[in-house]
Amino acid sequence: MSVIVAPSVLSADFANLQRDVEMLNNSEAEWIHIDVMDGSFVPNISFGFPVLQAVRKHTTKFCDVHLMIVQPERYISQFRDAGADMITVHYEAVTHLDSVIHQVKKTGAMAGVALNPATPVAALKEVVHLLDLVLIMSVNPGFGGQKFIPYATGKVREVKKMILDSGAKCQIEVDGGVGLNNAKELIDAGADVLVAGNAVFASESPAQTIRQIKFAAAK
Ligand code: DX5
Ligand code: ZN
Repeated sequence: MSVIVAPSVLSADFANLQRDVEMLNNSEAEWIHIDVMDGSFVPNISFGFPVLQAVRKHTTKFCDVHLMIVQPERYISQFRDAGADMITVHYEAVTHLDSVIHQVKKTGAMAGVALNPATPVAALKEVVHLLDLVLIMSVNPGFGGQKFIPYATGKVREVKKMILDSGAKCQIEVDGGVGLNNAKELIDAGADVLVAGNAVFASESPAQTIRQIKFAAAK
């Protein structure tokens, strides 16, 4: 059994972005995770369209865009045009979630919704059948390199049950503090995609770490 690994370029070296994207191209990571932060929904500002375009220019991997911004509906088509394959908005940042999900799908991108650690899984009960991805945040969003919040694993189990009960075809992604120490428990709980920033880019051999996370459940 293996998962999709989605390294987060938030932890890449931006002065050597092409080099780091090429490393990912040559690795077993299937997705590249792009963290967009606006300094309002989260206390940090990361990057926007030009960085996504630059990544897109150098990769054919699946670009997984995580929008940590208020009113993301203002920018959906621009993120699609900049190269997003998946667009994930935060439940907490949106008033009319059903409408935003349809807006994302209309662009041709896949649609995801992220839940902050304190937001209950049940918040997605009515829309899970519309989604391609549920993102369970396992840190409070805003920064790379934070400590994994253990109760996130229980939320992965809950969302897995919700998906199975509803017959939805939807993947589960976990984001924040994920690495070799918790990959197996998350895969066992039902995770399909693991985001890893610090664990990959701070390791001595990022490509090897990606491989180890990918096959963590096989052990
Ligand atoms: C946190 C971001 C994450 C982050 C993950 O707000 O959404 O994607 O970059 O980084 P690590 O794996 O270092 O926790
Ligand atoms: Zn993220």
